[in-house]
Amino acid sequence: MSSLYQNFIGGRWVPARSGRTFFNHNPATGEILGEYPASSSEDLDEAVLAAASAYRSWRLTPAPKRAEIVFRAGEIIRERKEDLARAMTREMGKVLAETRGDVQEGIDMAYLAGGEGRRMYGVTTPSEMPNKWAMSVRCPVGVAGVITPWNFPFAIPSWKLMPALVAGNTAVFKPAGDTPEMAWHFTRIFEEAGLPPGVLNLVFGSGAQVGQPMVEHPRVQVISFTGSTEVGLGINATAGKLGKRVSLEMGGKNAVIVMDDAQLDLAVEAILWSAYGTTGQRCTACSRVMVHAQVHDELARRLAERARALKLGDGLEPETQMGPLVNESQVKTVEKYVAIGRNEGQLVAGGARATDGALARGHFFQPTLFADVKSTARVATEEIFGPVLALVKIQSLEEAVAINNASAYGLSSSIFTQDVNRAFAAMRDLDTGIVYVNHGTTGAETHLPFGGTRGTGNGHREAGHTMLDPFTEWKSVYVDFSGRLQRAQIDNN
Ligand code: UN1
Repeated sequence: MSSLYQNFIGGRWVPARSGRTFFNHNPATGEILGEYPASSSEDLDEAVLAAASAYRSWRLTPAPKRAEIVFRAGEIIRERKEDLARAMTREMGKVLAETRGDVQEGIDMAYLAGGEGRRMYGVTTPSEMPNKWAMSVRCPVGVAGVITPWNFPFAIPSWKLMPALVAGNTAVFKPAGDTPEMAWHFTRIFEEAGLPPGVLNLVFGSGAQVGQPMVEHPRVQVISFTGSTEVGLGINATAGKLGKRVSLEMGGKNAVIVMDDAQLDLAVEAILWSAYGTTGQRCTACSRVMVHAQVHDELARRLAERARALKLGDGLEPETQMGPLVNESQVKTVEKYVAIGRNEGQLVAGGARATDGALARGHFFQPTLFADVKSTARVATEEIFGPVLALVKIQSLEEAVAINNASAYGLSSSIFTQDVNRAFAAMRDLDTGIVYVNHGTTGAETHLPFGGTRGTGNGHREAGHTMLDPFTEWKSVYVDFSGRLQRAQIDNN
């Protein structure tokens, strides 16, 4: 018997009005892990009303007090780190070292956002008039709608919800259907940490039944979304018509550049980790390498050898190096791209579903490598979100940068070189939200802004010193203590 979970609305755990449910599966074994409410717009509506009502007092709770609750949640997450990591591996497949990292990102974010409650700095500036005071302060937006993906089911809700709550917003949280358990733990922890009823509401269900009504709901003032480009652009279109604020984090096609002077051993380690870590299912994953023609064949040989040797399996087993894809539909996407790639480059590792022994029960795919791919090939330009890597030959840094910047996406990029001049030129010229030097494309830290250029986002950054931006409005306040009418721009010339 699997456990039955519920929505969290107005401080109470409740089933979907319709009584309908869906099941959560372990992608490594197919085992059923739990049953969750398949909610609809009426559940969402209740959650939004609960959030709107809680907003009245939450926005007046001093920011340091709000932030203390977030900090306390961080302490609980730290105590439960191991259990949460294990539950996450069971739920979405990535190996334990990585799920521990995902939970750690939640802890880091809680401590960072906790401190923000005692900053939330505004700006004071002189007025142009005598005896008049001027300042600008951050204000919460209202009810935040938060839609999160399954690949970082603890870290990403943390990036969004923690700053939103510290800033004084209340929230409705709709997690991905593949990782409801992590969202349930997240919400439970905030309940335990002392968050007042209605401040955080959790509604399980599909994008069509819960996400879309959330975006359209007149009482939801800001939407924060991480997920596919297709869904993100749909949200943007709807929210745009309604004049609603939206922060989007969507696709990526992140490149590593390997120059002829690179430390090749280091590049191999870093590329393996960036390309096949999380089974390639990170927004920041490396899925193309622009490698100098002089070292292309050597890099291809070494990567292929290492990719073939990666141990696939249940992420809970200590010897496993790569877990399954999250679901069958991801397997189908990867299969489609591998078929395309066979005509676009030379397949030097992987290329098929992995079905040996117990792997047959899960959504496993071999780490796959294509060498000598054209920079315009589909496997070198389209997001795949799986363990598929394409090597593209380049002759110069300028060529590599041009290929990188021609991408539809701009999340993360990296260069391996020992030449400081090349490194600085790349840092300046690579047009992505994140740039690494002598490191792969993954591994962003929570206290730096996270997000991307071009098709990856819509100009916002999460976490870092920018964490409050999506969830606050600026209010400019003028206080005239002259006791007479002073007309700006008119009485001061
Ligand atoms: C994501 O894939 O959306 O930088 C998040 C990294 C992680 C976060 C990835 N810290 O790879």
